[in-house]
Amino acid sequence: MSYKANTKRYQELIYRRCGNSGLLLPPITLGLWHNFGGKKSMSKEAKKMLFRAFDRGITHFDLANNYGPPAGSAEENFGKIMNSDFKKYRDEMIISSKAGYHMWDGPYGEWGSKKYLTASLNQSLKRMKLEYVDIFYSHRFDPLTPLEETADALVQAVRSGKALYIGISSYSSKQTIKMNKLLKQKGVSCLIHQPSYSMINRWVEKDLLSTLKKLQIGCIAFSPLAQGMLSGKYIKSIPKISRISDNSSLDKKMITKSYLIKIKQLTKIAKKRNQSLPQMALSWVLRHKNMTSALIGARTVKQLDECLDSQKNLNFSSEELKAIDKYAKEEKINIWAKSSKD
Ligand SMILES: NC(=O)c1ccc[n+]([C@@H]2O[C@H](COP(=O)([O-])OP(=O)(O)OC[C@H]3O[C@@H](n4cnc5c(N)ncnc54)[C@H](OP(=O)(O)O)[C@@H]3O)[C@@H](O)[C@H]2O)c1
Repeated sequence: MSYKANTKRYQELIYRRCGNSGLLLPPITLGLWHNFGGKKSMSKEAKKMLFRAFDRGITHFDLANNYGPPAGSAEENFGKIMNSDFKKYRDEMIISSKAGYHMWDGPYGEWGSKKYLTASLNQSLKRMKLEYVDIFYSHRFDPLTPLEETADALVQAVRSGKALYIGISSYSSKQTIKMNKLLKQKGVSCLIHQPSYSMINRWVEKDLLSTLKKLQIGCIAFSPLAQGMLSGKYIKSIPKISRISDNSSLDKKMITKSYLIKIKQLTKIAKKRNQSLPQMALSWVLRHKNMTSALIGARTVKQLDECLDSQKNLNFSSEELKAIDKYAKEEKINIWAKSSKD
């Protein structure tokens, strides 16, 4: 039987305006970096997560050329669902893709050249069986390609109708200002910035958030749960089913003494708010007025539901924020820091 969306799906979430654009995004976006790949198809649980997300008002799905494994398979698997169950809902969805990290061999398979970005977007559209993506991102800043060229490729993506909006990811405040200016000169707006941001990775607070506010660019924070570290799962040991055990983007070296102290204290504060730590972590990221969306990942429908329930308590008292600030301090977990250094 084919999927039929919940008729009450738009009654739960409060959508947020992305910068000064016409686009509203859900406060929680689902990303397909982990758990949606696979050579033949995505897992049954992954498919259930997509349907559950849409049923609870998540209209925005975030992908990239290299999501899998293997690279490309998340887009391909998502494309199969797009072409079947989700087909009739295409106009209710915002689908993002990106290019910047290594995707294929040779000098044109990564970074920010026009050649790479254009070829990659064409490949992504084919894999997802889409005519256009809603948002196309430069996935990381390329220090060796002139920014003008990357901007030109992004503008061409819009002019050719293959992308509706443009985004950048993990760019520093300085490079964001430059890119925004270049795009403006060509008559296209930078819709959104996608940086990493969480209670234990706060680099955006230095100057990026205020820059985005000033430029009226939206912001979608990725890894707001610090890849699952902002939960109690690593307190006692490393669970067999977890991102660290998958031996992928999280390293058990990141489970330090100082990290564990923070997690235990933050969990206590969350409990007083009647929230779990993941829920408080999401509400906390969304406390900024100009934070458009928190971009989560999930392994199960249960995790996804728990994350969405964060929306029941979005308010913080100044005492709560003070108490959180005592423990919401930097851990060395920002594996994307290099891109935003320039
Ligand atoms: N632009 C970029 O460079 C970039 C980089 C990274 C990510 N992203 C985007 O951001 C999305 C999210 O990244 P992320 O997956 O790192 O985000 P995240 O939300 O910080 O971490 C997701 C992980 O947290 C755990 N989790 C989720 N809900 C939980 C809950 N309720 N209780 C306990 N644990 C929970 C799960 O880990 P377990 O698997 O251990 O259960 C899940 O896989 C990606 O899919 C991608 O779209 C973009």
